[in-house]
Amino acid sequence: MSRIVLGVAGGVAAYKAALLVRAFTESGHEVRVVPTQAALHFVGAATFEALSGHPVTTDVWSDVDEVAHVRIGQTADLVVVAPATADLLARAAAGRADDLLTATLLTAHCPVLFAPAMHTEMWRHPATQDNVATLRRRGALVLPPAVGRLTGPDSGPGRLPEPGDIAALASVVLAACPAALTADLAGRRVVVSAGGTREPLDPVRYLGNRSSGRQGWALARVAAARGAEVVLVAANVEQPAPFGVRMVPVGSAEELRTAVLAEASGGRGEDAADVVVMAAAVADFRPAAVAATKLKKDSATEPAAVPLVRNPDVLAELVTKRPPGQLVVGFAAETGDDDADVLTHARAKLARKGCDLLVVNDVSQGRVFGRADNAAVVLAADGSATELPEGSKDAVAAGIWDVVRPRLG
Ligand code: CTP
Repeated sequence: MSRIVLGVAGGVAAYKAALLVRAFTESGHEVRVVPTQAALHFVGAATFEALSGHPVTTDVWSDVDEVAHVRIGQTADLVVVAPATADLLARAAAGRADDLLTATLLTAHCPVLFAPAMHTEMWRHPATQDNVATLRRRGALVLPPAVGRLTGPDSGPGRLPEPGDIAALASVVLAACPAALTADLAGRRVVVSAGGTREPLDPVRYLGNRSSGRQGWALARVAAARGAEVVLVAANVEQPAPFGVRMVPVGSAEELRTAVLAEASGGRGEDAADVVVMAAAVADFRPAAVAATKLKKDSATEPAAVPLVRNPDVLAELVTKRPPGQLVVGFAAETGDDDADVLTHARAKLARKGCDLLVVNDVSQGRVFGRADNAAVVLAADGSATELPEGSKDAVAAGIWDVVRPRLG
């Protein structure tokens, strides 16, 4: 159970904050709602009090004996401001303390997540964008507003993201951000590949592998929760894109290669990625020929054997083509054998592939595939090894980003 402070600023989307209180309390968190005076024009204090089970005040003149304006921020594990209006972002960026919410923001030591909602013009105004940049520079996580229908007939960027999405992101921030906060990947472009490729044999069959894509998916969502702009190249991953992540679905190794190389180099007119993580299980081989029609038994099409050809090594190609400063991270699922143990094999692979970091999973005895938990060692080209103890895939993802972060230029 964590203590979450939910700040609510004065916009029409304040009504969605009530659903957010519900989502947090149903996940077992204790919620203290701190609305602004303007927010109470939209939703009454009684609603927030009933849903949170705590009194609601907006100014620093209530409960003065408890010094609420200091205590609420100091004791929070997470502050979420949803909706964050243009005015609230401006006051937070300026360090004002003219009501209980802004005072709380100044005393919070924990992660702070702003979910802006306002009209498109207000969001795009340089004043608001400067305030957002200031807050991000200080380590706060400021979500981009969702695009869609706004109050009145307008539509565009400015909608509050859905409460369920904000709640999901909050739980990742609580689980996977360093205690002292931080959107430490803000401003970074991250490309992650995940899942397992499928190499077609005929219109209905393929050669596949057992990767569920869950570790790569966790890497993408933790990076987004830490402020990065994330693209997830997902090979046959069943889960929907994590909140705030752009997902590019692919099937075969060749499709994955095309997508990863394009995203890594910023082919869509964007900057090149700062880091590319190849968590996908890419098939080393594919059937030499793909039959146009289904292969039938007892017919001329029944294969006696399936000849295979090599697929390109995407990781090795990334290393040779990368722009200056781009970090490339590989994964290796290894087993020990009579020749060498897992880490010896992994060190050889790191040298062979030429990447900066290699995340090594020991998959002896059926470990890792399809399981909720994971453990890994991150080997670096400089010879260091960081052990990530058994934990959830989010926790392992957070550990990987902790190793990556100081190596980014
Ligand atoms: N990889 C890749 N392209 C391939 C195969 C693998 O980019 N055709 C990447 C994976 O995404 C992973 C890393 O390479 O990050 C290691 O994959 P692995 O299959 O263990 O490497 P191989 O070179 O195939 O090593 P081995 O000889 O053990 O099969």
